[in-house]
Amino acid sequence: MRIPLSKPDITDAEKTAVMRVLESGRLALGPETEAFEKALAGITGRKLAIAVSSGTAALHLSLIAADIGKGDEVITSPFSFVASANAIMYVGARIVFADIEEETLCLDPAKADSVITEKTKAILPVHIFGALADMDAFCSMAEKHSLKIIEDACEAIGATRGNHKAGGSGDFAVFGFYPNKQITTGEGGAVVTDDPDAAVKIRSLRNQGRAGAGTGEMLEHVRLGYNYRINELSSALGRAQLERLNEILENRTRVADLYSERLRNLADIRLLNPVPGGSRSWFVYVIMLKDPSRREALSSHLSRSEIDSRTYFPPIHFFDHIRNHGGFSKGQFPVTERVAESTLALPFYTTMTDKEVDYVCDKVAAFLS
Ligand SMILES: Cc1ncc(COP(=O)(O)O)c(C=O)c1O
Repeated sequence: MRIPLSKPDITDAEKTAVMRVLESGRLALGPETEAFEKALAGITGRKLAIAVSSGTAALHLSLIAADIGKGDEVITSPFSFVASANAIMYVGARIVFADIEEETLCLDPAKADSVITEKTKAILPVHIFGALADMDAFCSMAEKHSLKIIEDACEAIGATRGNHKAGGSGDFAVFGFYPNKQITTGEGGAVVTDDPDAAVKIRSLRNQGRAGAGTGEMLEHVRLGYNYRINELSSALGRAQLERLNEILENRTRVADLYSERLRNLADIRLLNPVPGGSRSWFVYVIMLKDPSRREALSSHLSRSEIDSRTYFPPIHFFDHIRNHGGFSKGQFPVTERVAESTLALPFYTTMTDKEVDYVCDKVAAFLS
């Protein structure tokens, strides 16, 4: 049987929650979404949460709510999923990349600081692979230069670093709930914020620009809006998952620890570093090959043993549409490029058994020996 790269952890609690919605007949814009938003705001320590149809939609609406548009620059990481950069292009702003920290693989504050100009309007740090970016540094930078912070916490629910929690510090923070994430809604995402006016605007924007918090007259549209609504089935699923968040995160840590124990002594690979002064919310289990030229062969070797793996993430500035947008070139962000050519994500999910981890590790070790 194939060992997949990821798999959602769905129990009877989730099934019961989704059935409850189906039986209620209310499938959109209802009590489940409100309850899911309240729970998410509580967990992240924010006043408000607005659930939407994806993490990408959450990024897009956060940038609009932060009033970012044409002529503005947003500093972000080139080592991420492409959506964190695409969203900056959606609002007509300019993507300004700064390289990542070697230790955490997150946006490097010193490098971000060095590319601030009078056009910089926001910083968009990405908490990559469940490790929090250095939010102390980004918060001071934002205060000093009057910049907005939009945290991309799509991969990091429950992560901590120093006094910061994932999603707890930015003017806006976004989460994603695709099925490969720590918790899922099928498709879905959310914005969290403490700004009530911005939250009203985001609610309107997610629902075709309707008046008020998107609850105004059915055919009264006061701004250009979108259909970024989440449905009640997804919200019920997310709510049930959030109730199990601690259990899910503990299980993921258990699987990650098992992997690290087995792989730590292999001389040809490096593992992700611990987060300084914090704890990772395990999203994927990534190894880094000291000789990147062996990565494809390792991936094929695993595939022959029915084990999925993926080369997470290609540098965003290598994609044609992004390169053309910013005039980026190879060699511009050396840490990102070096890391990106070496990373391989191994199968990783909450319910992974010791036997499955052992099997994957045996195959990795056999290839490298
Ligand atoms: C860092 C990051 N940002 C944004 C997203 C976009 O989320 P979604 O796929 O829900 O649109 C993802 C998830 O895939 C992600 O990993």
